[in-house]
Amino acid sequence: MSPRWKRRSAVLLLVVAGLIALAAAQLPYVPFVHGTRAQEVERLAEWLEVRPGTRIADLGAGKGTYAVALARRVGPEGRVYATEVDDELLAGIRRSAAEAKLSNVEAIRGAVSSTRLPEGCCDALFSRLVYHHLTEARDINADVFRALRPGGRYLVIDFEPGSLLDWIAGSETAERHGGHGTPTETVLREAKAAGFQVLRGPEPWRGRTYAVLFERP
Ligand SMILES: C[S@@+](CC[C@H](N)C(=O)[O-])C[C@H]1O[C@@H](n2cnc3c(N)ncnc32)[C@H](O)[C@@H]1O
Repeated sequence: MSPRWKRRSAVLLLVVAGLIALAAAQLPYVPFVHGTRAQEVERLAEWLEVRPGTRIADLGAGKGTYAVALARRVGPEGRVYATEVDDELLAGIRRSAAEAKLSNVEAIRGAVSSTRLPEGCCDALFSRLVYHHLTEARDINADVFRALRPGGRYLVIDFEPGSLLDWIAGSETAERHGGHGTPTETVLREAKAAGFQVLRGPEPWRGRTYAVLFERP
């Protein structure tokens, strides 16, 4: 390769690396750069007071990674409800629980305006990167209130709008929330309107994400 092409290649590489770094900085979090999954599970368990026997729900559980990790912690006396609106993900959660030989995970088909969780089922419930997908947050918050026992904890993890994601990833609430994400004031206002009291936060969680912990009085 001639020196001129070497120089051009180096410049191109730098530009690409710069663009990747810029994109990564705009993501909610970058794995390993912003901590590991194991560290996040530890933190979830601490905030939600997860112990053997705890009954917990993961609203919008996705692939079920966190639901399965927490199911190991709550043990056979505890229970983890993993809700999803996506049937393929739901099937994946059931598969992951079976592969991990966990019989304490219950995958539930959620709905846009209902968690479909049993009343008073849970000591704690969390939603991780889900709140900005909730078009019917008022109904869901009311339903979360119903699903928690008095004194139960509700943890919302989401991120502020105002990143590149506003441009490259659409979300159902982008217009109402001013971009891809949820302003903390919105979470606070809507959860309080459903009857929750703030227990902790908003605090930085992982990368650009924040966490707010509520309690059902
Ligand atoms: C960005 S993913 C987050 C998945 C997972 N919580 C995680 O942190 O890896 C958002 C998930 O919320 C689910 N979702 C959206 N609205 C929902 C609802 N009303 N009830 C249950 N799940 C919902 C979506 O199907 C999607 O899998």
